[in-house]
Amino acid sequence: MKPPEPRAAALDQTRAPYFAALLDYVDAGVIPFHTPGHKQGIGMERAFRDFVGDNVLAIDLTQIRGLDDLLQPEEALVEAQELAAECFGAQQSFFLINGSTSGNQCMMMAALNPGDKLAIPRNSHKSAMGGLIMSGATPVWMQPEVDEALHMDHTVTPETVRATLRRDPDVKAIYVVSPTYYGVAADLEAIVAIAHEHDIPVLVDEAWGPHFHFHPALPLSAMQAGADICINSTHKMLGSMSQTAMLHVQGNRIKLDRLKAVYKLFLSTSPNLVLVASLDVARRQMALDGPALLSRTIEIANEARRQLNEITRVYCFGEEQEGRPGVFDLDPTKITITVKNLGYTGYEAEEILRRRYNVQLELADLFNVVALYTIGTTTEASDALVHGVRELAREDRPVDIFSPSGVLERRMNTGTYKLPSIPPIRLVPRDAFLAATEFVPFKLSAGRICAEVITPYPPGIPVLSPGEEITPEIIDYLTLEKKAGVKMQGPYDDELKFIRVVR
Ligand SMILES: Cc1ncc(COP(=O)(O)O)c(C=O)c1O
Repeated sequence: MKPPEPRAAALDQTRAPYFAALLDYVDAGVIPFHTPGHKQGIGMERAFRDFVGDNVLAIDLTQIRGLDDLLQPEEALVEAQELAAECFGAQQSFFLINGSTSGNQCMMMAALNPGDKLAIPRNSHKSAMGGLIMSGATPVWMQPEVDEALHMDHTVTPETVRATLRRDPDVKAIYVVSPTYYGVAADLEAIVAIAHEHDIPVLVDEAWGPHFHFHPALPLSAMQAGADICINSTHKMLGSMSQTAMLHVQGNRIKLDRLKAVYKLFLSTSPNLVLVASLDVARRQMALDGPALLSRTIEIANEARRQLNEITRVYCFGEEQEGRPGVFDLDPTKITITVKNLGYTGYEAEEILRRRYNVQLELADLFNVVALYTIGTTTEASDALVHGVRELAREDRPVDIFSPSGVLERRMNTGTYKLPSIPPIRLVPRDAFLAATEFVPFKLSAGRICAEVITPYPPGIPVLSPGEEITPEIIDYLTLEKKAGVKMQGPYDDELKFIRVVR
């Protein structure tokens, strides 16, 4: 694939001012009487130090003169974040060191006051629930399009957003997840147009799409689509280190002063500067080489998808799905491998691929596994994945052991496997989360108000949120997921034998 021409930049994108500031500090040989306590590695446990190397410890510094202050930048971080804003097409960008999780909290706290209504898709990541609890906002849940054949939720459509605003004209902001974990992108331009007709902001959880801005074969990025604010987990899809992310903002619907105040509230006063510098260099890499690197990534991913689709009973959805409800566009760098016709759950396939072929996937659900292709994915790695799936498909596995209980198989065969409907909201999430509560047996909890978040993980989408009525359908669904070995995140009782409800 021929890489597109890099965009012209007004700022000098060859610079990485924050990384340079750290190197200057090391070069100056400063004698450190400041944190961190390991003092550039000298006090660090030997085995760890030997493994990670002296260089990384030498730049694990603290925010002193010359190294700026992430919460109140005045030096190199001003330029580093300006470069990021230009590079990602934003008016202003903020570096995050607690992932998009903190980005979700910042977006909601910046845009919403207690009691404000937020139109939000049901398949939002659980970190969005943190934003709802902290802000005191009331969710107006939007049903994403459910794909019964692929057994997954896609995005919310512009029609759903319009209908939500017609039903609830006092909604104060629209929140969208795009792309989904499976790489399905929403029609953000149309959603933004509808929201802006009502003069309300669009908040986009673009955790999985930080690369969109850098290649025309990828969906439009949130900033390109005119969204007011978005988050990017640069650590997920680009070259920055784990925990790092960026928050981008444009226009005047999000009050910058409020956003900055919230940012200061949520971020550590002791950020790991190695992480911060990795954001600076990941931006430089995208500005200079992003289009070429992504061309290669897309090519490798498309070839793998083609080869995987040649394997009998394996299906990886692709362009043929575009235009279906909730599938406005697709990110080719995420490959969803549907393994249900091989007689395996996604969880089983994930485990076998790891144990026998040393291949670790990003996500497994009941029916699929997801492989992430990024600028770090090599052709050899991709070949190993295709080989593993090919071998897996060779095994003659009877479909009747598909589910440990047999329930899943029966349901699938009769077409009655359904995601549970959104339960009625009885309390605002914040009020339920902070209410007096008690534990009751999960099986007997129908009709009670849930006080916690119950999230089958992955993919990390809450099935029950604080303030919602527990329905028999949800008890059924979660019982099935538990039987299939799905891990539940959020519940006080990991096994979900008991659930915390409002007293
Ligand atoms: C859609 C979505 N938003 C937000 C997050 C949180 O991102 P992070 O892990 O960078 O905190 C995730 C994590 O998987 C996610 O899938």
